[in-house]
Amino acid sequence: MFLSSIHNLMIGIVLLSNSKFKIMIKKLLFINIILFTLIFMHACKNDKQQSKEAKETTKKEVKAEDNKGLSDDAIADYIQKGVKIAKASGKTLKGKLIAAVDKGGLQNGINTCNKIAQKLMDSLSTKYNTKIKRTSLKIRNPKDQPSQDEIDVLVQFEKEVKAGKKVKPTAKKLDGGEVKVYIPIMIEKVCLNCHGKIGQELKASTYEVIKKYYPNDEAIDYSEGDLRGIWSITFKK
Ligand code: HEC
Repeated sequence: MFLSSIHNLMIGIVLLSNSKFKIMIKKLLFINIILFTLIFMHACKNDKQQSKEAKETTKKEVKAEDNKGLSDDAIADYIQKGVKIAKASGKTLKGKLIAAVDKGGLQNGINTCNKIAQKLMDSLSTKYNTKIKRTSLKIRNPKDQPSQDEIDVLVQFEKEVKAGKKVKPTAKKLDGGEVKVYIPIMIEKVCLNCHGKIGQELKASTYEVIKKYYPNDEAIDYSEGDLRGIWSITFKK
């Protein structure tokens, strides 16, 4: 294309300086313009084709990276199963927590939570033949530390909550072949008794007890509607 334009330019110069070859050169110029147009069109078409191909490859790559060959239907199935397990686990945990608070106040609730939360996750994991975990960007129990894939999801969910969107459960196939489902956990009013702001919903005396069990606690300062964390349910391959 570049050569063709130079060629055109040269012919133009010759045309101006030598009128004897005017007709012949005019013919040549005509051929050249056609040639130039054809090359230009071809280049354009190539560009379009290339960008289309690039788009398709990126799409494929993104899909492969996210789901590693799992179909959208399979992912939706996993999400459905994960949500069921998280709901059942949450119900069990909440039931035990409320019963404990009813019986012996918040202090008893904390004590019970401390005793049962991890064990419950383990026994439910066995029951459902999955790994059930609760995690957050601000954790209370150091055993609930998020892994990198969980941090990525938590950051994404956090962004969505801040943008006023309703966060939906999501799933990913990991490098090892297992599928992980991530389900948002939101802060409700009742949670503020133990995860709210100190001196407000979270009484200083309650927090003293929490600090005894969890000296490195980070899981406070939440407000209603905040993202507290996620359920992370791992299905073995
Ligand atoms: C009676 C106090 C109390 C209340 C009320 C409470 N929590 Fe907690 N929460 C705890 C304690 C204690 C732990 C640490 C449990 C453990 O040792 O595994 C915890 C841990 C968690 C975790 C696991 C992640 C981490 O930080 O270790 C999540 C998620 C969580 N709470 C969410 C909630 C939500 C949502 C509510 C309201 C529906 C709630 N909590 C209400 C005391 C409470």
